[in-house]
Amino acid sequence: MDSLLIEGGCTLQGEVTVSGAKNAVLPIMAAALLTEESCIIKNAPNLSDVRFMGQILASLGAKVEFDGDTVVIQSKEIHGRGDYDLIRKMRGSVCILGPLLARLGVAEVSLPGGCVIGSRPIDLHLKGMEALGALVEIRSGYVIVRADELVGNQVFLGGRVGPTVLGTANVMMAAVLAKGRTIIESAACEPEIVDLADFLIGMGAKIKGAGSPTITIEGVAKLHGTSHEVIPDRIEAATFAVAAAATRGDVLIHGARCEHLGAVLDKLSDAGVSFTRGEKTLHVTGADVFKPVDVTTQPFAGFPTDTQAQMMALMTLTDGISVITERIFESRFMHVSELARLGAEIAIEGGATAIVKGGRPLSGAPVMASDLRASAALVIAGLVADGETTVKRIYHLDRGYERIDQKLEKLGGRVRRVKES
Ligand code: EPZ
Repeated sequence: MDSLLIEGGCTLQGEVTVSGAKNAVLPIMAAALLTEESCIIKNAPNLSDVRFMGQILASLGAKVEFDGDTVVIQSKEIHGRGDYDLIRKMRGSVCILGPLLARLGVAEVSLPGGCVIGSRPIDLHLKGMEALGALVEIRSGYVIVRADELVGNQVFLGGRVGPTVLGTANVMMAAVLAKGRTIIESAACEPEIVDLADFLIGMGAKIKGAGSPTITIEGVAKLHGTSHEVIPDRIEAATFAVAAAATRGDVLIHGARCEHLGAVLDKLSDAGVSFTRGEKTLHVTGADVFKPVDVTTQPFAGFPTDTQAQMMALMTLTDGISVITERIFESRFMHVSELARLGAEIAIEGGATAIVKGGRPLSGAPVMASDLRASAALVIAGLVADGETTVKRIYHLDRGYERIDQKLEKLGGRVRRVKES
């Protein structure tokens, strides 16, 4: 397992380009199952999750070819059984359910199981499939959905904490080949859903309202291949913006879409960070004094849960008390104990709120990555802490950040990847 050795006290300076969005390319790759024709997906990030989704599609019979940041997928002869050993390793693989159901009338996918940030149920995905006429059966750890014919319907997809991103993706991908009209209410509004809808429309689907809480889909008989460029990764852009601010650096982030970063920029501004928005860039020019902030994670366009850990790392540097409330996942504070090992003072109140008492200088130490975004928070803290920080198990990072060590080194970060037995 690789680790990252980070020498703290650096200032990030220069230019960085964010890669394509992980959370857009995964459902888009799954959507290629909806047609026999070739789909060309450009600006795909070179991530372990993306290569893994390629393995899953290949296990279903699809032909998957990677050529740099382009993936070509052809699903001529496919079957509908997603193998447990593959599916259980990546929650995002659940989004093969909808396209398999629409294309084959049957999908058998192992229940994705939970992960460190929460139980990750799929009840809303299944509610949407049933609304379209599918029969759902849970048997020996697999969910089996089948339908002789999918018929459009109205379905409310809001759950306890609001919309579901991959649930919206799954139902949209099932509905595009259903008979008649489907209206999804309380749909997720994330930019990744808009990107998936654009891909499906490129295949000949009829979709209106993606990006709003109500999405209307008119089913069509068949879809054709298409070529599509994936949007830039807003969470990677946010991560580099926070890292630039934390090191009081000066970083020009190419590919940042500021219209996808409203809530993050609002909180960075509250924290005293200065930045300039560009057409497709974000120029972060550091901060003289950081101010404490109050952050609550919400569905888009609220503050993204995928940037909560990174913001917490920044808040450890501010003089004062910051309050961070996680409303989307039930246990997304794995980074708190590891940040404490670097000297941060953080108390968790009632499970969902972290009180960050900032201002005490951080000092480097060995820490353990636990999930994708918690790992990013530890890297940011390591860049600032005095001395050396070793972030272990950075396979978590490689799932969602393309060559983050090289990108940070190019910005002046003293970061080195070491292979550990
Ligand atoms: C997507 O996960 C992202 N992953 C997550 O990013 C992101 O944190 C999350 O959306 C929220 O924005 C991908 O797109 C691959 P949800 P998803 O369904 O779709 C509950 C990262 O770090 N829920 O929107 O699985 C659920 O428990 C990852 O890149 C139900 O109750 O998340 C959670 O509390 C982490 N029933 C909330 O909804 C359901 O059927 C939001 O989950 C589905 C979800």
